[in-house]
Amino acid sequence: MGVVASAPGKVILFGEHFVVYGEPAIVLAIDKRAYAKVERRDDKKLHVFSANLNLAGSFEGGVFRIEQGDTREARNKFEPVKQAVDKVMEKQGENVGLSIEINSTVPVGSGLGSSAAVAAAVTAATAELLSVKMSKEDIFRITYEAEKIVHGTPSGIDPAIATFGGTLFFQMDTGFKSIDVKTDIPLVVGDTGVQRSTRALVEKVRKTAEKYPQIIEPVRKAAREVVLRVIDTLKKDDLETLGELMNINHALLYSIGVSDESLELLTSAARKAGALGAKLTGAGGGGCMIALAKNEKLDQVMEAIQNAGGRPFIARKTDEGVRIEQS
Ligand code: MEV
Repeated sequence: MGVVASAPGKVILFGEHFVVYGEPAIVLAIDKRAYAKVERRDDKKLHVFSANLNLAGSFEGGVFRIEQGDTREARNKFEPVKQAVDKVMEKQGENVGLSIEINSTVPVGSGLGSSAAVAAAVTAATAELLSVKMSKEDIFRITYEAEKIVHGTPSGIDPAIATFGGTLFFQMDTGFKSIDVKTDIPLVVGDTGVQRSTRALVEKVRKTAEKYPQIIEPVRKAAREVVLRVIDTLKKDDLETLGELMNINHALLYSIGVSDESLELLTSAARKAGALGAKLTGAGGGGCMIALAKNEKLDQVMEAIQNAGGRPFIARKTDEGVRIEQS
């Protein structure tokens, strides 16, 4: 039997990277989810299997044993899972063996928050199985700790959206606020298929900001202005302005060095096909881009992204954060 929980992936609509420096960002939970099934075992092992990554291995007494796939990759992917499970068990004061199966429809390593969605789903499912009472706030905190292993100094944006869902306005010192978005935001996500590390890109931006403080400071202020304009725009149902602001945000991200050839190809193809705006989403350096388009143009934009070598899909906003699917 066991317990199944799920949590959504996300797209950052505006403000990635600058958010790490205290600026605001807007993030949207999407209808792609990560699922974690957790069952008790008779021994004390933590066995983890990722169906979509074809990885399997187990932790026992501090030792990791690979069963399927590349050892390093499996360790990197499963370490946050172990951390999340350990934190839940700490709360309960019991140490039991568990088997965890992960299935995700969130593309991995492409800036859509797959690792946070997995960690949130694992935390919720483990807590439910072991009858540990947990608020969403608790799940957020554990997911955030697990994310630190993956990303180094994450802003907390991914764990927040995976836990709470919906559309969030996020700022590091004030936390997240839910925004009520009346307008439909028709988006095409284009996956470049180029995998990269969020940690490395955040580090790259830090080095650039240190080298050129007088140049990067105004860029950061401009990014803040973009987000503030977006808040007004979302109240007005003005997709044209929203698209323009996406293009400006993309240019700011380009200037701090986080776009790449694959993202430039897909964003310009989307704009040429009639998208109102396009930008990279998440950490950049490959990963995914998003294009905003009127509903009647979505197919054309999808086709253009595909022809430019990307993997497109339509992303719909979802209000539900982490949830128990089966207990
Ligand atoms: C990654 O999805 C978003 C970044 O802003 C990093 C972070 O917020 O932790 C690049």
